[in-house]
Amino acid sequence: MTTDPVTLMKQEVGKAAAARVKSDSIVGLGTGSTTAFAIQYIGERLASGELKNIVGVPTSFQAEVLAKKYNIPLTTLDAIDHIDVAIDGADEVDPQKNLIKGGGAAHTREKVVDSLAQEFIVVVDGGKLVDKLGSTFLLPVEVIPMAVTPVMRKLEDLGGKPDLRMGIKKAGPVVTDQGNLVIDVKFDNIPNPASLEAEINNIPGVLENGLFVGVADVVLVGEIVDGKPHIREF
Ligand code: 5RP
Repeated sequence: MTTDPVTLMKQEVGKAAAARVKSDSIVGLGTGSTTAFAIQYIGERLASGELKNIVGVPTSFQAEVLAKKYNIPLTTLDAIDHIDVAIDGADEVDPQKNLIKGGGAAHTREKVVDSLAQEFIVVVDGGKLVDKLGSTFLLPVEVIPMAVTPVMRKLEDLGGKPDLRMGIKKAGPVVTDQGNLVIDVKFDNIPNPASLEAEINNIPGVLENGLFVGVADVVLVGEIVDGKPHIREF
């Protein structure tokens, strides 16, 4: 059992989101260390018989591998006409429930799945709450490989400082599940997340950026209060 406070917050908030999943539903399975706990608990609820008839739509290879590990049946967007609920993490959450995502380079598939869900539940630890997006986290932009240099120039024209994301324990750049690259961009100020989201996605060669504006329905925040993990709805 972990005693690390951040891991504890992630574990409890993942569990709280998994507890909201109802039988007979199609569930979007997000990416990251917090959602990994939600996937684990959905699997445990299925195994115990408390939850029945669930199918998951993974947002990444990571989510797919975890779903298989916990025996959650999977489907694809071609086989369904709706998603009941999606659970996913975030790197920053502002007071309007707008998000920056993409810390795991999965924001393109995450945006497809999360925005299709009738209810999108975001799971974060308290450290992810910010007054303004861009304060603590760089904005990830997925770009097709041949367009990296012109896209970086355009991102500079928009006031950003772009940097190609490099792999850890892998030489060279991070390659996404779609075979593309990720540019992380520092913006000193994002006064209008909705217009920046659209402007960046309008640059030829950009597939998707990590601004999620007006997508989240519920934000569950894990915190440590009086030494114990505590979940609140934001
Ligand atoms: C992946 C994401 C993740 O949801 C985000 O990075 C949060 O991850 P974690 O729960 O590990 O902090 O957007 O692309």
